[in-house]
Amino acid sequence: MKQLSDKPGPIGVFDSGYGGLTILSEIQRAMPDYNYIYLGDNARAPYGTRSFEIVYRFTLQAVNYLFEQGCHLVILACNTASAKALRSIQQKDLPHIDPNRRVLGVIRPTVEKVGEISKNGNIGVFGTPGTIQSQSYNIEIAKLHPHFNTYGNGCPMWVPLVENREANRPGADYFVKQEVDNLFGQQPDIDTVLLACTHYPLLYDKIRQYVPQSAQVIKQGEIIAESLVDYMRRHPEMDARCTRGGSTQYLTTENASKFSEMASVFLNKSITATQIELK
Ligand code: DGL
Repeated sequence: MKQLSDKPGPIGVFDSGYGGLTILSEIQRAMPDYNYIYLGDNARAPYGTRSFEIVYRFTLQAVNYLFEQGCHLVILACNTASAKALRSIQQKDLPHIDPNRRVLGVIRPTVEKVGEISKNGNIGVFGTPGTIQSQSYNIEIAKLHPHFNTYGNGCPMWVPLVENREANRPGADYFVKQEVDNLFGQQPDIDTVLLACTHYPLLYDKIRQYVPQSAQVIKQGEIIAESLVDYMRRHPEMDARCTRGGSTQYLTTENASKFSEMASVFLNKSITATQIELK
């Protein structure tokens, strides 16, 4: 790894692919003055079906890359990476890479918020197979809200539907309804459904259509943005290490023009990306 610079730098936002853009856009809305670098490991996405060990290795490579670009703070805008890699990176890697740099995930802030939203404590979680198998949401929810019950449902087809631009087409209805039925088959009285994958906001309309009206469907973007604003207020030393200027650089491990085209679907505006290599 290269020598890291002490100079302030942009905030890094990482996802396996495009999904983290749904988080980035909310962070940008809440904190428009900061500079950002978004990195999507599109060449190796999806992560959702990969092993613990591989998700950890790929995520660590991405974090190191963002540190080398000058980031002092990196947000894992990916539930799969947050579930499978965050704790190891925070506990094992950061102390010797640089104890003053920080990597934050999306699970903890989401779980904190759930306590304010649910009335009956029955929480449904839609995520990638990896996020659901890791039981991260069940574990974190049980820690913060011991009287809650968490019902997880892995949705292996939802990320491919989004990545292949099928989210708003009739074929998506079949897979969305199937998973909603599976979740509510476990517990019909769920009152809060978490979209615990950063790709899923693009399926929101269809999910909303099939989830019973009595349940709320929660996207993570605003929650993560709100929690980051709060983090910066509580950590002025980190805030001082994040540069301002309102710029965003988009990096991808796949073809840059393919990324730029697809990212415009997520962001509703056109952007220009640069291809990089992670190793
Ligand atoms: N966006 C990632 C997440 O939030 C999942 C995408 C993938 O499977 O790579 O879990």
